[in-house]
Amino acid sequence: MSELKEPKPQYDGSVVQPRLLVTETERELQNLLKVKSRAARKVTQPLATTVDPIAWVTDGEHSRKTLKLFDDVSQVYELLLARMEFLSLGHDLSLLRRRAAYFEEVDGEKSDHFFLSAIRGKGQIGHSNQYLTHWFYPYKGKYHGQMIKALINFMGIGEGGLVLDPFVGSGTTLVECATLGIPSIGIDINPALCIVSQIKVDSLGIAYPDLQRELAKIKPLDIFHYFSQKPEISKKWFLGFNQLNQDANLLLAQAWEQQFSDGFVKELPDTWRNLLFLCYLHALSDHTYLQSTNKAMPFEQFFLRDLNEYLDTLSGTHRVLIDRHLQICPPKVLFGTALELPVPSESIDGIITSPPYRNTMWKVLPFVS
Ligand SMILES: C[S@@+](CC[C@H](N)C(=O)[O-])C[C@H]1O[C@@H](n2cnc3c(N)ncnc32)[C@H](O)[C@@H]1O
Repeated sequence: MSELKEPKPQYDGSVVQPRLLVTETERELQNLLKVKSRAARKVTQPLATTVDPIAWVTDGEHSRKTLKLFDDVSQVYELLLARMEFLSLGHDLSLLRRRAAYFEEVDGEKSDHFFLSAIRGKGQIGHSNQYLTHWFYPYKGKYHGQMIKALINFMGIGEGGLVLDPFVGSGTTLVECATLGIPSIGIDINPALCIVSQIKVDSLGIAYPDLQRELAKIKPLDIFHYFSQKPEISKKWFLGFNQLNQDANLLLAQAWEQQFSDGFVKELPDTWRNLLFLCYLHALSDHTYLQSTNKAMPFEQFFLRDLNEYLDTLSGTHRVLIDRHLQICPPKVLFGTALELPVPSESIDGIITSPPYRNTMWKVLPFVS
């Protein structure tokens, strides 16, 4: 296999280039963790007993008494991101508690991120990187929400700012901005991913008790059969996608109009029926991807399992958003191309994205400007 090469930056000198903060302490930390052989790894003490991560992250300003990182934060890049978000928000501990991605406790109180990541649901089994609707639809090229949240914090963008992700994929950046109350725009050349992004952010705003009441009247298998009547998306649907800069909501409306026959699912409010559609697509992906493995199951069983897990996520998220007074800021999702961005110049406060590099490793690393 040929060696990985970092792509050469394309920007000119007038653009501020993203730079991680490399300090002597960080080098020491990296050396400390750079243990190659398995035997050596075994004898290395856990990080927590060799250095105090909080002292490092905060340059000695705080100790474990006032700040606590999540227990699963152990990689050097995570500590760096925690340090970066502390640099940006640490002057105001209540702001840090509300926005931080890597801190479990701030000044003796649990952070908002603690409550969000405590929810169990789709893809959520207790890791601080598993929260919100990030695990709806298994898109392999996405990056980590937690990392993106810390980078947004580091960029210092607040509720009055505007964030752009010109290669938005499955909407990770938008889900984070929406929950932090920051306006955002996402653009992608793949209409299916525009739809996935739109549904993932819209689902955050679903009033779960209302949805639950409605679903109690419907058999989940009837929902499955409703979508199964349309096993293939016809070519006609894709003809609607030849016009750039269309809002993903319009694509969705068009899909429902052209592809789905009337019936009880079509009659549901848009965000509900779109959520059920995404769940069906998720089950379809699981079913096809896992069919020759020992995790294979009938399609409808995947649907029932995924639906339960989606609803768990929505129920928990709805509760936490209310309890923590978090307001969702709806983003704009556009089917378009990064080569002709439909945004006025000087209108964007920060760009955060992962471009479509051929090699997977670069695909999942974010670029920040
Ligand atoms: C690595 S993925 C982004 C994943 C995203 N960060 C996420 O978390 O889901 C790169 C995306 O760039 C999109 N893309 C490729 N060429 C594009 C172009 N010219 N304009 C806009 N999007 C493009 C692809 O469709 C793909 O969704």
